[in-house]
Parts: sequence; structure tokens; C-alpha cells
Amino acid sequence: MNQNQNRSSLFRKKPIVNGDNESNMLKRVLGPLDLMTLGVGAIIGTGIFVLTGVAAAKYAGPGLVLSFLLAGIICAFAALCYSEFASSVPASGSAYTYSYTAFGEVIAWILGWDLILEYGFASAAVASGWSGYFQTLLSGFGLQFPHALTSAFSPEKGTYFDVTAAAITLIITFLLTRGVKEAARANGIMVAIKIIVVLIFIGVGVFYVQPDNWQPFLPFGISGVTAGAATVFFAYIGFDAVSTAAEEVKRPQRDLPIGIIASLAICTVLYIVVSLILTGIVPYHMLNVSDPVAFAFEFVQLKGLSWIVSLGAITGITTVLLVMMYGQTRLLYSMSRDGLLSPVFSKVSGKSQTPATGTWVAGIIVALFSGFISLGHLAELTNIGTLFAFAVVSLGIIVLRKNNPELKRGFRVPFVPLIPILSAVGCMYLMTRLAALTWITFFGWLIIGLIIYFAYGRHHSHLNPARRISDTFKTTKGK
Ligand code: ALA
Repeated sequence: MNQNQNRSSLFRKKPIVNGDNESNMLKRVLGPLDLMTLGVGAIIGTGIFVLTGVAAAKYAGPGLVLSFLLAGIICAFAALCYSEFASSVPASGSAYTYSYTAFGEVIAWILGWDLILEYGFASAAVASGWSGYFQTLLSGFGLQFPHALTSAFSPEKGTYFDVTAAAITLIITFLLTRGVKEAARANGIMVAIKIIVVLIFIGVGVFYVQPDNWQPFLPFGISGVTAGAATVFFAYIGFDAVSTAAEEVKRPQRDLPIGIIASLAICTVLYIVVSLILTGIVPYHMLNVSDPVAFAFEFVQLKGLSWIVSLGAITGITTVLLVMMYGQTRLLYSMSRDGLLSPVFSKVSGKSQTPATGTWVAGIIVALFSGFISLGHLAELTNIGTLFAFAVVSLGIIVLRKNNPELKRGFRVPFVPLIPILSAVGCMYLMTRLAALTWITFFGWLIIGLIIYFAYGRHHSHLNPARRISDTFKTTKGK
């Protein structure tokens, strides 16, 4: 294979391991239905249950449905590209692994580092959304935390730390260190509850829609719709997490594309209907609350149902948190296994066979983020990181087709290079709709990442010729 010719190059590439990776110690047990559950579990969460409110009130108005449509179309293009990669490079680590084979190490590092940002901030944002619903539920019982501990750092509002968000993050971290099987079992039940709650919202809510609330339809014009799309894009994140399970799928080449595309399709339909009903029940300018979907039922005096929705939202958001934090540990594991990050993140220990120390390090950092940084800012940072990853993966398809035309692909993106280009351009366009502060933080993050790569990863990489002999020895000894 010509791709490993220059091993000291910044662009040294990992060989494509098509199918069974010799270092894969995970069991192949997952089928298409499991993947769909995983996908829907990762997708429906804080985005639809919380961010819809602020997106409608501040950006899109009732035109929120168009924001969802636009973000959904861009994600569909990206999902096709993810599917082709997942069906030809079925290894855990998702986009990071893909770019290691398509673009080489330094780009893979940038993308992996970017995905740490995506999963880390997404987890923190999701925990923050969880906290909003949980606190509303508690207040129904007359219970309240001291005001200073109810929300992120914002001295002008008198809040300093969101203690609930940090606490749920640490609880999930603990669960993940106990073992993945237990976590996955709980996930299936929670996903079912979440879908039932969304269907209840649709089935009941439709009778309370006042078409007058859809007027004016675009109070902030088309630019409001696109800014709304850049926000609610968050609601679609998660289908890419399906591909992180690649090494545990029975027939990855067939089942991964099915899992990715089907879960995205289901969620898109649900989101479009929910956003129409939500803005039909409540005038859009009143939706800037921390629990808009439950609030809609409260607005029409359906207190009991509002309570059920809150409970379902909490359950549903928990599954997203579980999958996002799991994705984070898997990514850190892959990068550490390749030598780019400290071995702490791939040290599997204890009866549960999980990378416990790495999971705790990541969990504590995410808990601090979720406690201190506001949901809006966390969501924007997640979005910029994810959109960047989607754009790189999409362009990666064009490169992989050119460099590895003979590769066995279970799924092929139609109309290449048109669809990958549309996907990349769409993602970049949504990135331009995000705030300047988000861009500055994003660049700061990438620069810190490059410093770490040149100071550590480049030398410790398993593709570094000086490292390979000792690694081979270690792998053989460990078996
Ligand atoms: N799509 C996920 C959510 O909305 C991240 O919570």
C-alpha cells in the first residue's frame, strides 16, 4: 500500500483495516435495530427539548420548522458521507479514524482534537439541558437549590455554578466506569420512554395548535432561519456516534449505513412535526424558557402531561449524555491507543474492563464545563466543532475515492463529488452563522491541540518508526 511510504511525514497514514482489526478485542454483537436505538438515543435530547425554545424566540420564530429542515438536509448529506466511511473503514473512533486513513496523521489529530471538543462540550451542554428540566420538576414539589447554584457562571444574574448539571455528569461518569453492558441495557428502555413522550406531545399537542401563532411566520427574516439552523443543528448531533460502535457491529458494511441514515430520518420527521406544534401552541416570543416542550403543555393548562413530558425529557436527555460521554471515552481510547494521547486514556482496568481513569479525567472536566458555562455557549461550541468534523469527513470521501478506488465499500455516496461538496459547503455555511466568540474559542482550542501534537503525539505516535518495535512487543506480550 502506498500510503505508509513516509512514516516520518506529518501526513503518515494508518493502513485501512477493512473488517476485522487484529487489535479489536470487542465482541461483534450489534445489529441494525441496535444501531438505530443507539442513534435515536444519541440524537433526541437537549436540542429538541430545550434549544428549540431559544431558537424560536431569538432567531427563527415559527419559521423554526425551516431551520430544522435546513439543518436536517445538511446533516443528511453528511450522514451519507459518514455511512460510506463507516462501511469501508469500520473501526472505532469514527471520523478521527477515517481521516487517519484518508488524510494522514496531523489532520487526524486535528479532527480527533476537534471531536474531543464536540463530545466534551456536547456532554456539558446536554447536562445543562438536563438540569433545566430537573429543576422545574423539583420546583413542582416545592424544592429549590440556592439561586447561586442553579445556573452557569453569570454574576449579573447572581448565578455561579450549575450544581445539578455537574452532578448528573459525575453520576453518568460513574456508570460508564462500571461497564458498558449495564449502561447499554438501561439505554434501550430510556430511548423507548423518550420516543413515547415525543409521540404524546405530538398526538395531544396537535389539538391545541392555534394557527394564528404561526403569524408572522418569519419575524426575523431568512437570516433568522439560518441562524436558527446553526443553533438547532445541535439537535441532530449524535448520528455520527453510531459509527463509534463500528467494531461491535455484526455486519458493519451493511448495518452501519442503515443505522446512521434511519436514525437521522426518524429524528428529522419528529423534529419537524414537534417544532410546528410547539410554535403553534405557544407564541414564539414566549418560548425562551429552559423547558419549552413541557412549558407548552403548561401553557394550555395540561399540568399532568407537562409533568410527564418533563420526566420523559429527563430520561431521554440522560441517554444522550450516556452516549456522548461514552463516545468521548471511546475517542480518547482510540487516540491513546494510537499513541497520540497519554496511555492513561487507553488503560483498561478492573472487573468492568473500562478505561476507568481516563473516563474519570474526562468526566470531571466535563462536569466543570457544565457547571460554569452557559448552555447557549456550550451548544455553539459543540456545533462549530461538529460542523468542522462533518466538513472534513465529507471532503474525505472525495479523497478516499481517488486514493483507494479499489476499497470494498458496503455503501457508496451517490453523485460524488456533488453530495460531499454540498455537505461540506452547507456545514461551512452554518459555521459562519455562529458567534465571533465561538470562533475565537474554537481556534484557541485547535492551536492548543497543535502544540500538544508537536510536543507529545508526534513522537509517541505508533506510526513513528522509533516506537513501532517496542509497541509490537507490548501488544504480543499483552495477548
Ligand atoms: N442531539 C443531541 C441533543 O439534542 C446532542 O441533545
